Amino acid sequence: MFGFTYYTPTKVVFGRKTEEQVGELILKEGAGKVLVHFGGQSAVRSGLLERIKASLDAAGIEHQELGGVVPNPRLSKVREGIEIGRKMGADFILAVGGGSVIDSAKAIAYALAEPEADVWELFAHTRQAKKCLPVGTVLTIAAAGSEMSNSCVITNEETGEKRSYNDDIARPRFAIMNPELTVTLPDWQTESGCADIMMHTMERYFVNGGTMEITDSIAEALLRTVMHNAEILHHDPANYEARAEVMWASSLAHNGLTGCGNDGGDFATHMLEHEMGGMFDVTHGAGLAAIWGTWARYVMKDCLPRFVRYAVNVMGVEPKENDEATALAGIEAMEAFYRRIGMPTNMRELGIEPTEEQILEMAKSCAAASGGVKGSAKKLYCADMAEIYRRAR
Ligand code: NZQ
Ligand code: ZN
Repeated sequence: MFGFTYYTPTKVVFGRKTEEQVGELILKEGAGKVLVHFGGQSAVRSGLLERIKASLDAAGIEHQELGGVVPNPRLSKVREGIEIGRKMGADFILAVGGGSVIDSAKAIAYALAEPEADVWELFAHTRQAKKCLPVGTVLTIAAAGSEMSNSCVITNEETGEKRSYNDDIARPRFAIMNPELTVTLPDWQTESGCADIMMHTMERYFVNGGTMEITDSIAEALLRTVMHNAEILHHDPANYEARAEVMWASSLAHNGLTGCGNDGGDFATHMLEHEMGGMFDVTHGAGLAAIWGTWARYVMKDCLPRFVRYAVNVMGVEPKENDEATALAGIEAMEAFYRRIGMPTNMRELGIEPTEEQILEMAKSCAAASGGVKGSAKKLYCADMAEIYRRAR
């Protein structure tokens, strides 16, 4: 096993009506001027935004709102938020939404803490952040795990680059999680969210270095729990218990817990998907589902013991005549699960058909963003990445 640092400073406030505590939680952080950041219309339509504002007013907190964050959040919206935040002298950013809103809020928070520097430099990896304004979240979709993660993913729409920047200083101060808030989600988003949660766990599970039994067992339980509840939600979207299981899983899958003792994880599927998001603006979780099976077949032989363990312990596969057959049955069972909940298992089903030229462009960009090579299950270079895109069409 590898040594590790496990750092999860985020206070989690979980359960029905917890959003009513938001004003109080921000006061405890010592903040008084809040930029409230949200997405399209869902938080307005549901009345959530009004409830948030009422809680802030009751706590005597000054606030301004900025909505309009889109999935695969854009740099231009971040810049808009920086402008407003500067003018109002914001000392806290409150994200009301999902991964896109939270990531946009984190980027604004980085920028406001270091006003002399350009925020995109972080995502271009030409500098490291020294400071970040505090961020709090009211989560409305279980998926990205950004409510507890150190990660922030922004799309520069001028260049088509979707890039991440990871730093513990941006981990949110608190995450308010009321599973009821996710009931209004379109099915596609619920299911894409479940695919993303599973991928955050699997990225850390399919490794070739050391691991720990406790970590593996937590990961397997998390995967089984998400699969079980994703199927419940597919037929009964209003099921509170299932919503709650999936919501807590979204945070545990990406707060570092399922990576303790391993080598940092594989994350090649995520890097491959980010290029698809940058070029085609696909839904993140669905993009992951569309490419995972192809990735798994491509790397399987280099990480066979993990694929066998996954097949048996997670997918419930009976051991076959040899390890390869067992591993393959596990991958097939996973794809069958994706199909059952309406997720794509290739790019065509995702609704994109990249040309050979586009594939080469994505592979080149993915390799560049990965420093030339990515993966733990198998090290992937630019030519491997292109081949996975080709086979996933
Ligand atoms: O904008 P609104 O109207 O709110 O609609 C959103 C959006 O269209 C809708 N939605 C959210 N909550 C809702 C709701 N609709 C009805 N009722 C609700 N309660 O759902 C759509 C998707 O929202 P989004 O925030 O994009 O979803 P998600 O949480 O999946 O975030 C995806 C983004 O996070 C990044 C992804 O790459 C993508 O950009 N990721 C961030 C990570 C991180 N920071 O740790 C890790 C992930 O691997 C991921 O890369
Ligand atoms: Zn993800």
